[in-house]
Amino acid sequence: MAITTASAPGKIILFGEHSVVYGYPALAVPVNEVQATCRIEPLPAGTGVVIVAPDINFTAALSTIPGNNPLAAAVRHALAACVPSPMLSARITVTSNIPIARGLGSGAAISTAMVKTIGAYVEHTLSPQKLADIVFAVEKIHHGTPSGIDNTVIAFGQPVFFQRSHPIERLSVGRPLTLVIGDTGIKSPTYKVVGDLRRRHNANPARYNGWFQSMGRLAADARQAIESGQLDRIADYMGRNHALLQQIGVSSNELDRLVSAAIEAGARGAKLSGAGWGGNMIALVGDGQADSVARALHQAGAVQTIVTTVG
Ligand code: PMV
Repeated sequence: MAITTASAPGKIILFGEHSVVYGYPALAVPVNEVQATCRIEPLPAGTGVVIVAPDINFTAALSTIPGNNPLAAAVRHALAACVPSPMLSARITVTSNIPIARGLGSGAAISTAMVKTIGAYVEHTLSPQKLADIVFAVEKIHHGTPSGIDNTVIAFGQPVFFQRSHPIERLSVGRPLTLVIGDTGIKSPTYKVVGDLRRRHNANPARYNGWFQSMGRLAADARQAIESGQLDRIADYMGRNHALLQQIGVSSNELDRLVSAAIEAGARGAKLSGAGWGGNMIALVGDGQADSVARALHQAGAVQTIVTTVG
């Protein structure tokens, strides 16, 4: 079999993080500036599969890796999906420049790159939906109760309007959006933020359901604004979504500082993106503004900025 490589992008959520877990719609887009990449090369027959992840100094034979390891789970699920399940002897190497636990979908991108590459290596066509489903099974190991938005946007590799238990809808973008992504540098595992919010929601469901409903409405309205290219409306909705995320207790001083710095530097709108408590925020900028907003974010403490264009 021939050496095979494939990649998958990072992602950011534009609207609807957290409320999406409770069944409301959300919007997410791929971030192609960061990627997870997988390479598979054949080994002599009978050697079995070896997984190598140099970024985390990991090398192990698949047969020795426990079932709850996400890298091994991605390989096992991918092989199981390729009927008849091939007996593989190959080295599977995965690398990624997507920061971990910052809301950029690094786990889902790594799984997607691995599953895609395995499918291509054994010449088994996996549809984007099948890919998303396999990665979702692996995501459950990372997150416990993921909504499914990360695996969907990354497996499809295009902007999505996502709602749990609904068929995926593509999000069309009426006018390109330039976003500056600012990283607080603080790792924030999604399962912790989601679990903590779940406890607060259970203690006061009426209050939290009201906030989630407002976020869902914003995501639906933002879809229309994005499709018709109305930047002022999108920016306004970003500010309102951030305020709601503050109310449900998932922002942080560092995120709020970056959001304010972006607005003061002339960004049209800004909000945290992803689980919160750390990780990334996003700022929507006008033509020629990306550099000055990125500079302001660094001055306010961002450890990394990425400029990406949607659409
Ligand atoms: O993994 P993150 O940080 O992009 O967060 C995912 C978004 C949440 O809505 C908070 C969780 C989920 O499963 O949708």
